[in-house]
Amino acid sequence: MQRLSETGQAAPRRILISYASTDGQTRKICRFAAEQLIAQGRSVEMLPVGDAAEIALAAFDAAILAGSVHLGRLQPELSDFCAEHAGTLNRMPTLLLVVSLAAAGSDPAERAELDRIADRFTSAAGWRPDRVEHIAGAFRFSAYGPLRRLAMRWIAWHKGQRVARGQDREYTDWAGLAALLKGWPG
Ligand SMILES: Cc1cc2nc3c(=O)[nH]c(=O)nc-3n(C[C@H](O)[C@H](O)[C@H](O)COP(=O)(O)O)c2cc1C
Repeated sequence: MQRLSETGQAAPRRILISYASTDGQTRKICRFAAEQLIAQGRSVEMLPVGDAAEIALAAFDAAILAGSVHLGRLQPELSDFCAEHAGTLNRMPTLLLVVSLAAAGSDPAERAELDRIADRFTSAAGWRPDRVEHIAGAFRFSAYGPLRRLAMRWIAWHKGQRVARGQDREYTDWAGLAALLKGWPG
């Protein structure tokens, strides 16, 4: 029997979540998203975008694509996947999750830059997601090598964040993400 959503519409049953995650926070966010959707009775397949190249995308009813911002752009492998599958993605409900540290703040210039990063990404891929959401990520000093650690300490200082040496810090709003997914894709 087909599940019905609260609106009485047929709820998408099979959802793909595919992601690129350099330091692990986007993967954690996607795992949380998968758990939320499964709890709603959806069937979810979650995999890194590098493993999704050959996937039969048309077999899914909806898709979430997620990546993180590093030096002003999302991962190229995510871009390649979205460009390759743009035609199919444009025919189903889709959500792009853009994970960054700028999303943790409220600086209008940084928020505008995040919108530009997402616009450049989707235009280049020829993909028109129904929804784009910016999600606050994390400092993961435990995952960085010495150079990245230095770069991130500079970013933290620049943002006025106090981050103790070697300390990880998570800004992701889990309750907000759960609320977002509750009605998705409607
Ligand atoms: C080298 C480096 C560069 C980054 N550049 C940006 C940036 O340009 N803008 C931003 O908002 N966040 C930036 N971040 C923060 C990441 O987007 C954030 O740490 C995110 O949680 C990473 O997700 P991931 O663990 O899935 O890779 C950068 C992080 C690193 C390590």
